[in-house]
Formats: sequence, C-alpha cells, structure tokens
Amino acid sequence: MAVNVNEYYSNIQNNYLFVEIARRVEKYQEENPDADLIKMGIGDVTRPLTKTVIKAFHDAVDEMGQADTFRGYGPEQGYDFLIEDVIKNDFNPLGVELKNSEVFISDGAKCDTGNFQELFSQDNIIAVTDPVYPVYVDSNVMAGRSGKIGDDGFYENIVYLPCTSENNFVPALPEEDVDIIYLCFPNNPTGTTLTKDQLKVWVDYAKENDALILFDAAYEAFISTDNVPHSIYEIEGAKEVAIEFRSYSKVAGFTGTRCGYCVVPEEVYVKNEAGEDVQLNPLWNRRQSTKFNGVSYPVQRAAQAIYTPEGRKEIQENLDYYMKNAAVIRESLESIGLEVYGGIDSPYIWFKTPENIDSWTFFDILLDEANVVSTPGAGFGPSGEGYIRLTAFNTYEKTVEAMDRISKLEF
Ligand code: MLT
Repeated sequence: MAVNVNEYYSNIQNNYLFVEIARRVEKYQEENPDADLIKMGIGDVTRPLTKTVIKAFHDAVDEMGQADTFRGYGPEQGYDFLIEDVIKNDFNPLGVELKNSEVFISDGAKCDTGNFQELFSQDNIIAVTDPVYPVYVDSNVMAGRSGKIGDDGFYENIVYLPCTSENNFVPALPEEDVDIIYLCFPNNPTGTTLTKDQLKVWVDYAKENDALILFDAAYEAFISTDNVPHSIYEIEGAKEVAIEFRSYSKVAGFTGTRCGYCVVPEEVYVKNEAGEDVQLNPLWNRRQSTKFNGVSYPVQRAAQAIYTPEGRKEIQENLDYYMKNAAVIRESLESIGLEVYGGIDSPYIWFKTPENIDSWTFFDILLDEANVVSTPGAGFGPSGEGYIRLTAFNTYEKTVEAMDRISKLEF
C-alpha cells in the first residue's frame, strides 16, 4: 500500500510568493538584528478595526455568551442581514439588482478565487493577466489545469495576457480559445484600472466566445476616478458571464478577521459533457454547503457595521489615510526619476526598476540598502520582471521614512 501524492503539486513553482518574501525577510532580520525594516511587501493593513466595527463585534460576542441569543451553525452562505446590506450598499447604488441567493459570504477573496476553479473541468483553458495575483495560477496548477512550467516561467497550458507599460497595462484579448478568464481591477499587483469601455470589451468577448470571467474586485473601494467601474455588473450583460469577488480585508482592515463575499448570478450557465447548460449558482452553493460552514456570527456582524453611516465614515478615513501614503510613494519615486504606475485608484504602486535591474536583485537592494521590504514584480509572473510593487498600507510616518531612505539610494 502506498499513499500517492497529488502529482500536480510538483508542478508548483517554489514557495507561495509572500511566504518566500517572509522567509527572506526573516533571514535578513536574523542576520541584521538592528535593521529597522519597513514593510511594504505583502498588502497587509496597519490601521486597526474601527470603533463602530469593534462595537458590533463585541456586542455579537456578548450575544454568543447568552443562552437566548446564542447562535450555533449559521447558514453556509452567510446571514441575510449582511447579504441584504451588501446588495443595498455595494450594488444597488450602481444600478445593479441582486437576489440574496446570489451573494455568498466567505472568509475572503483569496479563498474564493482559489476555490472557485473546482467547479470547472480539468481541460478548461484559463487565461490570466501577467503579472497576476499568484493564487489564480497556483490553484489551477494544483488542480492539474496548467501543465508544466517552462524555463521562461510560463505554464504550458495557461494563456498569459501581458500587462506592461508597453500596452498601458490594458490586456489584449487572447488570440487562442480560452474558457475562464481571471481579471482583477483595480489590479493587483500593478495598481492600474480599466475604464468601463475597456472592461466592456471583455464582457462582450466572454459572451461571444462562451467564456467566463472571474472578476476580482477586492480593491474597488480605492477607486476615486470617474468612469472606472466598481463592479463588473455595471457593464451590460456581465451577469451572464461573470462571477465577482469582494473582500473586506483592505477596505475595512479584515485581513486577520477574514470576511468577504462572492457574487454568482443566476444567469451564469456553463456546459456539461453532453453540451447541456448547467447553472453555476447551485453548484457553488453545493460546494460551499459541503466544504464551508460559514463565517462566524460576530465577524459577519462586524462586517455589517461597515455599512452604517458612522462605519462608512470611519472606513473612508482609513482609505483616505492609505491613499495619502500612496500619493507620497508615487511622488517620491517620480521625483527620483522612476517610471511609476498605479497608486491612484489602488493601494499598490508599481514601478520600473532603474537601469533594468532585475526584480529580485532590486528587492535585495531595497532590503539591504534601505531596509525596505517590497515585492519583486517577477514574483507575479514573467511580465512583472523589471518591476517592483510597494504597498501604501504602512503608517504615514513609516511610508515617509521609507521614501526618504529610497530617495537617498544611488543607482
Ligand atoms: C497582496 O499583497 O498581494 C495581498 O495581500 C495578497 C492577498 O490579499 O492575499
């Protein structure tokens, strides 16, 4: 008898990106215990949960301690009180109507975007923008959809859609047939956005080619530019061809608390082997009911508090705080002559390394010489080579200090 491993795991390249960065940073800190590191690598927030959120969280915990208000298992899909507020606040103002059964509360967009591919057959061709949030690729590699990785860093069965300064970070439609397209806008890692017209091109493509868009909108709250869609459902016809993922992590400081949601409209159908239509919503419902027991009651109450007038105000203050950091980062990098992108409708700033230094080498330079932790663009895919990502999620003081240190470097 032998237990055989899932061989597809051997196709995964290296560690998960942010685990690898943490490993390198820890090693550096061990070797340089006096180094005062400023972390602008993983997009983890620094502002605490707001007063209104904490109050709702506490109250719900207290309810759990009383026999008459205690709650055991909740609905796997989330409580209606949160789902209704999601629809009323996040979608209705955009002119988008949804049913409660189309919204699934979850423990975050990483889990949802990683898990969703389970619903599709192994021979579906997936397309990703490049550079890309590694979860989309890695979860498909684990599922056996990618084939092997080549020396060039591309998996043989994945279609890559380059997003670089050459195309202004607007992906071109694929030349080959693809089935499932992952789009993330505002984009992680480049911080760039698509206009409504640019996103419409993708919705139209999906409709014409029987493709499905998995749209990650985890950063929509950072959008301030008009004409940049907050939801893919602002585009006509998108409800037939798109799933949308949202997260409270960056919006409301829930990276550790864990809460997000995913929208699976009833209009989305895929095909079975016999070529018949299969509705996706009940499949995701079945998947979640089997493998997920819902987000805890206090966390859902905490998330709901974001939608109160006071909660909204507090959240907006935090978003403004981070976007002020983003402006500091953009301005200081530009002032030393670097080519800078993102950071306007997104907490991520993406810049070209000077002198074409490769990403990992420049990551080391920033770590060694400025004690600033960044994320090397190459870690997000081959087209990220030659770029670095910084996040605006540190404190204002540390952000200013980091920029001061970087400005003094000589390249
Ligand atoms: C990132 O830094 O790209 C994000 O923090 C990753 C995530 O949200 O999982």
